[in-house]
Formats: sequence, structure tokens, C-alpha cells
Amino acid sequence: MSDESRPHRTAAVIPAAGRGVRLGPGAPKALRAIGGTPMLIHAIRAMARSRAVSLVVVVAPSDGAAEVRRLVDEHTLPDRTEILVVPGGETRQDSVRAGLAALPADITSVLIHDAARPLVPVDTVDSVVEAVRDGSPAVVPALPLADTVKEVEPGEPGEAEPVVATPERARLRAVQTPQGFDLATLVRAHEAIAVNGEGATDDAGMVEQLGITVMVVPGHEEAFKVTRPLDLVLAEAVLARRRATDAY
Ligand code: CTP
Ligand code: MG
Repeated sequence: MSDESRPHRTAAVIPAAGRGVRLGPGAPKALRAIGGTPMLIHAIRAMARSRAVSLVVVVAPSDGAAEVRRLVDEHTLPDRTEILVVPGGETRQDSVRAGLAALPADITSVLIHDAARPLVPVDTVDSVVEAVRDGSPAVVPALPLADTVKEVEPGEPGEAEPVVATPERARLRAVQTPQGFDLATLVRAHEAIAVNGEGATDDAGMVEQLGITVMVVPGHEEAFKVTRPLDLVLAEAVLARRRATDAY
């Protein structure tokens, strides 16, 4: 079958196997609640809200797949969305690879979306899907930076560090998820690039290493990643505003 005639089917893989060390003590980050609902459930709903996504693969903590399956079954999710739960790995790169391995053969493109970005709007998801369907093998949503960025020679935590370079801010973008890929391209990147240390934190970066051009589309402020305690405060506020204004 030629690429032209092959029907598109898009899945989303949600890596949710991290501990959330920077968020502080408590349950694994993806299971922490925002507005009374686990972050992971918000993230699944955010993917399922896109008409293009008919399958979501959740990558759970390696010892928590059964618990995550129960959690998913307890929450209301659209009937047209199939949800699989698989155990993750030591690094995000291992977890994404486990999610890719669970995809059925008819999937042609894939979104990789952090469970830690529970509030990404559907329009952002759709613009990534659309750019992939229009022929870009790798697409990332991203925003211009507010802060100037310095490259430093890293020292001990808390110590002063010498500046090495100051990249021109107007050329920089802060990258979010979902990142969208032609599935065969992303699988090839994961086969080619071994996990090194903490592994790749950015799937698009792995595709760049194959020499393929990654395209950036506009991201959204509400697609921020919940990383530190202050991010939880912001997520609660965004959700409360949505619930007050959009019957969310
Ligand atoms: N992730 C994963 N498997 C890992 C590590 C991370 O699936 N072994 C997922 C996280 O669950 C999260 C996403 O990758 O949804 C982005 O990672 P990050 O924000 O760094 O989350 P954590 O690794 O959980 O947080 P921390 O680095 O603070 O421990
Ligand atoms: Mg991490």
C-alpha cells in the first residue's frame, strides 16, 4: 500500500512511570491529584479529547501497572478511546520504548505526551497531529522564552558557575508535549539510540540525531509541565478557572 492510500491511525503514548522527585515526597507524580482528579486522568482526557486519537497507551510505574489500570477503569473516559496500560522502565526513554512496543500494527503516527502536562488544550494536540498528517515526520509544540538563557560550566549545587555562552533568546524555544511522529521514524530513533545515563528526556532530540528535521508549531502556556511544588499551585488555579468558565 502506498503512503497516500494507507489510512492514518494515531495513538498517544503517555509516559507516567516517573517518581516525581522534584515535586517532593508523596505518591508517584502522575497519580497526584489536581482538582481532586489524578494528573494522569487529566492527561488521558486531554489526548482523548482529540478526534484523531483512538488509542492511548499509558506507561505506568513498573510496580504499579495494576493500580493504574484500576484507576483508569474507575474514571469516565470517552468510549471511543481504547486505553492500554503497560509497565515502564528506569528512564523516560525506556518508558517511551515500552509504550511504543505495545502499539498495534495499524498505527501510523504517534503522540508522546508527558503525564506531567495534564492541562494541554485540545487545539495544541490537534495542531501537532495535523502537522504530522501533513507530512512532517517529527513535530513539537514550543513557546518563546521569557528568561534569557546562559550556558555555564556546571559546578557544585549552590556554587557560583562561570558563563560559557549566551544564546540569542529570540532563536530559542521551550519545548512541550505532545510531540508527534511518524511512527516508523520514532521507532527507528529508539532502535538506533541506546539509553545513556538518565536517557533522552526529549523524543524529538532522538529523531534529530538521525539527521531528520523536526518542526516546531506554537505551544500553549497551559501545556506547562508540573515539575516543582509551585507548578501544582498553578495547575490548581488553571483548572479552577476552567471549571468556573467552561463547565470543564
Ligand atoms: N517518566 C517515565 N518513566 C521514567 C521517568 C519519567 O515515564 N522512568 C515520565 C514521567 O512520569 C513524566 C514524564 O516522563 O510524565 C516527564 O518526566 P519528568 O517531568 O521528569 O517526571 P519525573 O521523572 O517523574 O520527575 P522527576 O524528574 O522530578 O523525578
Ligand atoms: Mg524526570
